[in-house]
This record gives sequence, C-alpha cells and structure tokens, in this order.
Amino acid sequence: MIHTYIKGSSPHTIILLHGTGGDENDLLSIGSILNPNSTLLGIRGNVLENGMSRYFKRVAEGIFDEQDLVFRTKELKEFIDVAIEKYQLDRQKIVIVGYSNGANIAASMIFHYGAIFQGAILYHPMVPIRGKMIPQLAGMPVLIGAGKNDPICSITETEELAKLLKEAGAELTVHWENHGHQLSEPEVHFSIKWYNCYI
Ligand code: MLT
Repeated sequence: MIHTYIKGSSPHTIILLHGTGGDENDLLSIGSILNPNSTLLGIRGNVLENGMSRYFKRVAEGIFDEQDLVFRTKELKEFIDVAIEKYQLDRQKIVIVGYSNGANIAASMIFHYGAIFQGAILYHPMVPIRGKMIPQLAGMPVLIGAGKNDPICSITETEELAKLLKEAGAELTVHWENHGHQLSEPEVHFSIKWYNCYI
C-alpha cells in the first residue's frame, strides 16, 4: 500500500489512517503532536471513490460494503504485518490513529483481530460492522473523539460503538465536543493528554 514512513527516536510507532479523500500524509502532524519521538507510518487507502482514496467501498454515506470491508481489513492488517517486519517495528508499541473512514477501518481491525495494537485513537468513528463477536480486548486503551453535532456519526451510533468496545474489555474513553464531523483542535489537545496517560 502507498505509505509514508518516518523513523523516530523512540521505540513507539503511530499508524495514521486518513478520512475519505485524504492521503498517507494527512495525519502525520497529529502523530508528531501526540509523540514527537515516535516513528510514524501514514497509509493510503487502496479504494478510489470518484478519485477520492478510502480504505473500503461503501454503498452510500454510512452504508458499508461489508464484503469489501472484511477483505480490506485483512489487506490492511497484512500490510501492517509486512511493515512491522520491514521497518523492524516493536509490535507491542503501536498505536493506531484514524479519522472518519480511517477510524472505521481501524475499528474494523479491532472488531476482527482484537487487541493487536497498544492503543487506538478513533476520531469520529461509526460502528464498522454489526453482529460480530469482538475478541477480548483485555484493557486495550481506546479513545473515541466525537462531535455532538456530527451529521455522519450520530450520538447514538457513537454510544453503540463505545458500548461494544467496552463490553469487549477495552479501557474506553469518549471525548465529546460540540463540533461536527471535523477533527477539532480541542479534540487533538485532549488526545495528547490521553496519549500521555495511557501509552
Ligand atoms: C465512511 O464511509 O467510512 C464514513 O461514511 C465516513 C466517511 O465519510 O468517510
């Protein structure tokens, strides 16, 4: 997959997954704000929707092509496994950060493969797939950044996702802002505090 790799001086890695229409470089600045010494790995989604990169196909806004979601989740997991070997990353010290469509595939990776990351920051995620038994998350720290006026991720859907992750054993934090779907500055500031506390 197309990606940007920036080697850091600490053993930590932050994987960054963009929103629809973004690319592998979009969230690099968020990664270096969270941990200036961390290795950063920004990955571009393999699916194109009217020229916009995404991580999986959708039928309409918020309605996912489930078969493609499962296939792409596996594809991304395999790419990350290859990157871990290639760049000699410490598997125990990887935090995944996704915004919107990137948060949805990050959540899908957790739903399918469990606590494969040290922690996760999901900015404006949705429930990626329903009716799936989530593997035991054994205290994996997860932060959800949400907006009370987000027209794409409703309050109910955010709460549903939070409940599912909590029931699976995640150490879950939900941070609300009054904003919409955008990644807001206070949300990023809160993430720094969260990262320093849990990672
Ligand atoms: C998705 O398709 O993952 C969600 O609708 C978020 C987005 O617009 O990318």
